[in-house]
Amino acid sequence: MNWIAIGHIDDIPLRGARCVRVPEGKIAVFRTAENEVFAIEDQCPHKGGPLSQGIVHGKAVTCPLHNWVISLENGQALGADEGAVRTIPVRNDDGLLSISLEPAMMAAE
Ligand code: FES
Repeated sequence: MNWIAIGHIDDIPLRGARCVRVPEGKIAVFRTAENEVFAIEDQCPHKGGPLSQGIVHGKAVTCPLHNWVISLENGQALGADEGAVRTIPVRNDDGLLSISLEPAMMAAE
């Protein structure tokens, strides 16, 4: 896999996100309250809202636009809503984060 360094976990606020621009688009990298890191496409499957500006709770994020809840683990919309965003593999080496874009930009199904 082709890993790309994206910074340190401390660059991301607890229960927050950082946006990483890549040629394929924007990726939202989230840090949960338990210090887990997840990366998903920064585009809500509903109407493209910026998920990186949403509220993180557990292993999910609530979209800031219309409150869809998206799983950070598999990119799926939770509850009654249907849709998914792509998930991107993240590696955490003692706090140094990398993402992999190939074959990462695959649809989460
Ligand atoms: S754009 Fe995210 S809930 Fe509507």
